[in-house]
Amino acid sequence: MSNVEIDGFRQEAHADELLIDLINRTGGSVPHVCYHPQLGPVQTCDTCMVEANGVLIRACATAAADGMTVSTKSAKAAAAQVEAFDRILSNHMLYCTVCDNNNGNCTVHNTTKLLAIEHQRIPFRTKPYEVDNTNPFYRYDPDQCILCGRCVEACQNVEVNETLSINWEDPNPRVLWDGGSIIGESSCVSCGHCVTVCPCNALMEKTMLGHAGFLTSLKKSALSGMIEVVKGIEPETGYGSILQVSEAEHAMREHRIRKTKTVCTYCGVGCSFDVWTKDRHILKVAPEHGPANGISTCIKGKFGWGHINSEDRLTAPLIREDGKFRQASWDEALGLVARRLLEIKDKDGADALAFISSSKCTNEESYVMQKLARAVIGTNNVDNCSRYCQSPATVGLFRTVGYGGDSGSISDIEKADLVVIIGSNTAESHPVIATRVKSSHKLDGQKLIVSDLREHEMARRANLFLHPKPATDLIWINAVSRYLLDQGLANTKFLNEWVNGQEEFRKSLEPFSLEAAARLTGLSERTIRTVAQMVAEAKSTCILWAMGVTQHTQGSDISTAISNLLLITGNYMRPGTGAYPLRGHNNVQGASDHGSMPNSLPGYQSVDDPEVRQRFETGWNVKLPTSKGLDNHQMVEAIHEGKLKAMYLIGEEMSIVDSNANYVGAAFEKLDFFVVQDVFFSNTCRYADVVLPGAPSLEKEGTFTSTERRIQRLYQVLEPLAGCKPDWKIIQDVANQLGAGWHYRHPSEIMDEIASLTPMFAGVNYERLAGYKSLQWPVAADGTDEPLLYTKRFAFPDGKANLFPVSWIGPTDPPNAEFDLHLNNGRLLEHFHEGNLTYRTDGIREKTPDTFVEVSPELAEERGIQSGTWVQLISRYGKVRVRALVTDRVQGKELYMPMNSVETPVNRLTSSHTDPATNTPAYKESSVHMKVLAEVSESPLPRINSRFGHPTPQNGVEVERKWKRADYAPPGNGNGLVQLQTKQ
Ligand code: SF4
Ligand code: SF4
Ligand code: SF4
Ligand code: FES
Repeated sequence: MSNVEIDGFRQEAHADELLIDLINRTGGSVPHVCYHPQLGPVQTCDTCMVEANGVLIRACATAAADGMTVSTKSAKAAAAQVEAFDRILSNHMLYCTVCDNNNGNCTVHNTTKLLAIEHQRIPFRTKPYEVDNTNPFYRYDPDQCILCGRCVEACQNVEVNETLSINWEDPNPRVLWDGGSIIGESSCVSCGHCVTVCPCNALMEKTMLGHAGFLTSLKKSALSGMIEVVKGIEPETGYGSILQVSEAEHAMREHRIRKTKTVCTYCGVGCSFDVWTKDRHILKVAPEHGPANGISTCIKGKFGWGHINSEDRLTAPLIREDGKFRQASWDEALGLVARRLLEIKDKDGADALAFISSSKCTNEESYVMQKLARAVIGTNNVDNCSRYCQSPATVGLFRTVGYGGDSGSISDIEKADLVVIIGSNTAESHPVIATRVKSSHKLDGQKLIVSDLREHEMARRANLFLHPKPATDLIWINAVSRYLLDQGLANTKFLNEWVNGQEEFRKSLEPFSLEAAARLTGLSERTIRTVAQMVAEAKSTCILWAMGVTQHTQGSDISTAISNLLLITGNYMRPGTGAYPLRGHNNVQGASDHGSMPNSLPGYQSVDDPEVRQRFETGWNVKLPTSKGLDNHQMVEAIHEGKLKAMYLIGEEMSIVDSNANYVGAAFEKLDFFVVQDVFFSNTCRYADVVLPGAPSLEKEGTFTSTERRIQRLYQVLEPLAGCKPDWKIIQDVANQLGAGWHYRHPSEIMDEIASLTPMFAGVNYERLAGYKSLQWPVAADGTDEPLLYTKRFAFPDGKANLFPVSWIGPTDPPNAEFDLHLNNGRLLEHFHEGNLTYRTDGIREKTPDTFVEVSPELAEERGIQSGTWVQLISRYGKVRVRALVTDRVQGKELYMPMNSVETPVNRLTSSHTDPATNTPAYKESSVHMKVLAEVSESPLPRINSRFGHPTPQNGVEVERKWKRADYAPPGNGNGLVQLQTKQ
């Protein structure tokens, strides 16, 4: 702590606290335009000038020092502030009453008022540039741009897409995309960071324009007329009275614009934000307070909400009759569902029924779904799509450290000395986590190792990129472990204190010499040694992995090998360390946590455990089934075998996201009765007997659990569309039709029940999750949560972790003479999964209209392929026709096909082989034959996709270049200004 006097009052400052933060925290005020706490000092606006110990300084760039005397209001400071703001206003026309940004949070408006500016002393000058409307989601108006550089700082150093810069040396500086491209053809990934932090209306969401204000939808000519009127009266009336009018207009807006907090519906990062709505129109997504994301989002969370008001939403139940679907009332549909489920249960037994919960639905919905299966029907046949991706990681962690979740938080990844990413295209699949790694790597010297088949963005940024042969990650990871142990580089102290099983583990590593590993993986011995040395030298290491690891026949074993490596190097139990299996869907963690698993009740409590069963039987007042149920892979087999007759599935596009899709579809055709609950008529609905219209995330309340085990509340942004219901209500209706007698009035009551039965969630309740508050499980009864796991002990009875030996077996479905190419698959930045939601946002469809197969330049040359050539991919299980995209992201005979298609799903090609520990399909072990077709059309990815842009990396906004301009002088006559910089 240090003592600082501010405007005559003594204040205590924290270590390294910036003066601006101290002034704001202690109730003072100083104008500031470019400063944003999540960006740090940008130092472009000069409006935060204060007098400290007699000299003018920027409050945003100066740390409070003991004994400092600061005046925010001295004549010198006040004059400098006004002079600086005059310069800002010369770049901006104040037409607030007819501006869509007049929402009480416009920094330019508010600073005009704070400084009581009456007249524009430096006349407004237009800039010689057109408005840029070429991005589908936002537009840039150079004439309103005050050149604060917040957007540049956000793009360069927070998102680290490095698209934006300002040409400070130009007579008319402006923000540039890729150094001067139109936005639509730049490297901009439409993450929205820049728009979110813009302090005025220069960058705005197109969904705001003409919608936010009462007068802003006027025709352009009328608007221009009104702007002229405002300009005309300003010399006489001053801005004071003009601002009064705009504030009255803003007050009127407050009555019709709702701002509701929600959590993103797409990936597992768990971004949260306010959604601004006017009736059902989504004005914008405003991230600011999210504990996982702050100001960050990706294209999907910021702009991908077209599905909400899409015209093809399901709005009534559908019943199949004579091979066709007809609309039905809720009463009729629910009655039919209950009758048929009961009939099948009576005839074939409870285990002839199965339930699939959704990773898109809430924790409460997953809980009631598994309760319906267990307590009402009497079967443990319940699962969710974590089977397709995350279960192997969970098993790997259960084997070694005890909890099946990320061992720390995103902030730990951010602060790690070394990050290792294995089989994860993080920049596209978990974009906001990638921003934290990119930023630490760019600015703070974090080291990065990436292992992947593809040279994606993270691979290109890495200090060391490994491209092992497919399905050989386990080998090099074990070789690194062996090398570290052999060379005495393991953390012996940690091992002796905290880890069991060293002997056996050492022995298991015998086959993994550097020589053998190099031979089998195709990596050089030197590369493997370098990895080992980097891990040994790092003060703290986090390992991130995803489906490039888990979707193998040895997915659980590779995950185990990763955790073993972390254990032998002591990379658990400390900040900045640990295991991070990045969860795919927004609530894939929560779906499993809350018991939609065939072997566990909520909180991973085993169905085999009589004490656990007893507790739930008492709580639910039923008798529960005792044996483990079928997982979703076994369900498909059981349908083919005639043992499983009925299924109730919510919010999963299982017919194309399960592997060997043709086989899965054939199974669904055999079901006696199939209920599908979804927001749209999905491909899976085609097999249904009854379709029930659920509600998307914005139309309901509940909680999601993100990859860092963070439980967050979502509030209802919009009423459910007429005819639809939140899924928890539908499940309750079905249960009650079956005689359950449930009476949940709100999801909070479901959460209270979960907490009462599940030690892991004992202290979770809606009060503790109000607003942007969140909890990271396990949560003790007093509400204490654990952002970093294992700080005191590992989650085993003796408190110690276990090294778990794993050996390498080799992949299924390897290439041969006929199927000579390896087919990899996965996500894309713009679309989530198969795209059922994201294709309904026009701008996303424009940027990424279709699927494709990535072909390496060398293979393309060998086979006479160019981008746009149609090829047929044929595997042992099916075939698809798709366009090629030639790219050096892939090499040699390795292909990559994203999963963003319902019509051409890559899973027509994948097999039914699975990881024996979890039954997770080996999606990444596929071989195909590629037949080149005669037809060639345009490239499947249009020129406007961000991939074709050319980023311009630089160190933030580079304000020093502005300061070097001949026409720049610090305000306040430039006397005695001390420019204290906090960044290099
Ligand atoms: S990538 Fe595009 S949307 Fe994201 S901050 Fe940069 S310019 Fe803005
Ligand atoms: S566009 Fe960028 S530089 Fe211009 S006002 Fe907005 S944030 Fe500042
Ligand atoms: S998709 Fe993931 S990274 Fe993107 S906004 Fe949503 S939660 Fe965040
Ligand atoms: S707030 Fe802009 S220079 Fe300090």
